Amino acid sequence: MRIFVTGGAGYIGSHFCVAALQAGHDVVVFDNFCNSDPGVPSRIARIARRPCSVVTGDVRRKQDISNALRSAQPDLVVHLAGLKAVGDSVARPLDYFETNVGGTACLLEAMKEHGVHRLIFSSSATVYGQPVELPLKESHPLNPTNPYGRSKLMAEWLCDDFQRAEGNVSIVVLRYFNPVGAHPSGGIGDDPVGVPNNLMPFVTQVASGQRERLHIFGTDYPTPDGTGVRDYLHVCDLAEGHLAAISRSDTPGFVTVNLGTGTGYSVLDVVRTFERETGRAIPVAYGKRREGDLAQYYADPARALHLLNWRARRDLGEMCRDAWAWQRGSSTE
Ligand code: NAD
Ligand code: UD1
Repeated sequence: MRIFVTGGAGYIGSHFCVAALQAGHDVVVFDNFCNSDPGVPSRIARIARRPCSVVTGDVRRKQDISNALRSAQPDLVVHLAGLKAVGDSVARPLDYFETNVGGTACLLEAMKEHGVHRLIFSSSATVYGQPVELPLKESHPLNPTNPYGRSKLMAEWLCDDFQRAEGNVSIVVLRYFNPVGAHPSGGIGDDPVGVPNNLMPFVTQVASGQRERLHIFGTDYPTPDGTGVRDYLHVCDLAEGHLAAISRSDTPGFVTVNLGTGTGYSVLDVVRTFERETGRAIPVAYGKRREGDLAQYYADPARALHLLNWRARRDLGEMCRDAWAWQRGSSTE
């Protein structure tokens, strides 16, 4: 298949592109590189041993997408381009709605114009908000608590309404839990700008000596060890989840699917596993809860298994080892 990947140079997109090329698909990366390095597509090609095409463009500009789809003529679009930082979304909500909602609207319009009928959309488990029941099923109420989450939910609604109106379109919405780790080659990985917000990149930066210690946000949660619990999944498993969605998205319809492992790990579980797997000490400081954080968040991944025949295969140890291999490689470049 010929797959058009918006945001293909980003953290998750680059791993998906490698998996798609290795599975024999042709890939066109569409990205404005606002949060990624223009050198990433050549790294993707090096790992996959096959080139991908690259179009520099912006999803907020209908003309950019339309021109790119006209020349690429893809069978399917994977839409990952978006803004994703929760704190940043509180500070500049309009940018998040413009990119995540407006960008999706431009894409859908251009897909309609060029007769592209299949879409895989990157959403987030954050659309559920405060859990009413765990594990989180796709039928859980949707109540996001920040502008980022609300922009993702609005984009989901847009996709749903578009599918109903068009009828012959297939849209799979993937709700990711906490992707971590990197490609085992060490050639691509998460590359946050500035101080990382997320746990795993912070841990790897402490391990490499870039930061003195990890601040653990909260020790009094109602969890087994008092620290927050999340559903971490290896980014390569996540990439393979997209391939599974592609091979089962040939019938018209709209469906939402969680991509997670179904297992929750605490912050201390991550720290201890990282130390054990890498032999590096992670000094920690125990501190207050981070505003807006939730105690526990993990998926019910049953629908992914049932509908997509997908389940995560890599464990927390592999996530830690691959995150560390990437950090070591990128800090010595
Ligand atoms: P990322 O920032 O690494 O990748 C996003 C890519 O989109 C970047 O290459 C960026 O340059 C590009 N982009 C942003 N705005 C664009 C625009 N207007 N036009 C064209 N390209 C644009 O993020 P990621 O972690 O790879 O996330 C990919 C998608 O998955 C996002 O939509 C994000 O909301 C979603 N998601 C991510 C996570 C996570 O933990 N990383 C969790 C849930 C959902
Ligand atoms: C964050 C985002 C969420 C996004 C997810 C995956 C917020 C409020 N939510 O969620 O929308 O989908 O990332 O990218 O930002 N922790 C520490 N110290 C740190 C960093 C994190 O103790 O320096 C703890 C957190 O309190 C949490 C866990 O580690 O318990 C995971 O944090 P993080 O990686 O930021 O993910 P989420 O909080 O799940």
